[in-house]
Amino acid sequence: MPSRLRQNPDPKSAVIAFYSQWHGERTYVNPPTVVRALKQRDIPPDARMLDIGFGNGEIAVTVAEAFPQGWVEGIDLTEKNVKLAWDRARGREVSNVSFSVADAEILELPAAHYDAVLAMQVMQFIADPDALIRRVFRALRPGGAFLFATPFLPPDPTLHPFFLDAYARVVPNSFQYRTEDAWYGSLFDAGFERIYTAKAHWDPDGQPEAWQQAYRQALAEHNLDYETARRHTWGGLISARKPRT
Ligand SMILES: C[S@@+](CC[C@H](N)C(=O)[O-])C[C@H]1O[C@@H](n2cnc3c(N)ncnc32)[C@H](O)[C@@H]1O
Repeated sequence: MPSRLRQNPDPKSAVIAFYSQWHGERTYVNPPTVVRALKQRDIPPDARMLDIGFGNGEIAVTVAEAFPQGWVEGIDLTEKNVKLAWDRARGREVSNVSFSVADAEILELPAAHYDAVLAMQVMQFIADPDALIRRVFRALRPGGAFLFATPFLPPDPTLHPFFLDAYARVVPNSFQYRTEDAWYGSLFDAGFERIYTAKAHWDPDGQPEAWQQAYRQALAEHNLDYETARRHTWGGLISARKPRT
């Protein structure tokens, strides 16, 4: 269990506190990449979509613009993000989107309702990701897609203690990190098929200052050299399909 979780007995309140102070300065995933992934999945033009943990709303608004006949429903833990996202949608004159406060871990999701569910850089905050994956599967219509982006642990388990610590430091109050294979296992277990990943390697030196500092502190504590860690610092956008029948 990563150290941050041990230190923090109430991670959900900590996430809410952190994102209530946040100014929404950036998206954590490139919005056009999300749109491209949805188009690759042949999501219908009038799709119903759910964006879990929409953050500043930029991804949901960009997706809504790309699917003008569709509808994007955004949920997030904080009022602050809801306000940021509504302001963004109004400023861009996008009306096929809605934003509300809800916790994806307890919100009841309608069965066979959505064509796509997004969770961009959110799974690392979810206490029971397998339960959420099963609920998302149930909420998707046949042929619907679940797209989520998250940092991956590298395959070499000896590097896991470093990455669990480093990621928990750079993404405050996050604790749920897995290998790409482990995510695929959970998705297959839930019934998903045709799973693929758009992988991205992150150069730690290209990250924001606070990110770099946290990463280097973790390197020092784990006595790991920068080059070894750098080569294993990557994540991706996983896309999985619910079978059509
Ligand atoms: C790292 S940010 C990502 C924001 C956005 N998806 C992006 O990629 O730019 C994580 C977001 O997930 C939200 N979040 C975390 N746990 C959540 C939960 N259980 N239900 C809904 N939203 C959650 C946080 O409030 C935060 O806005």
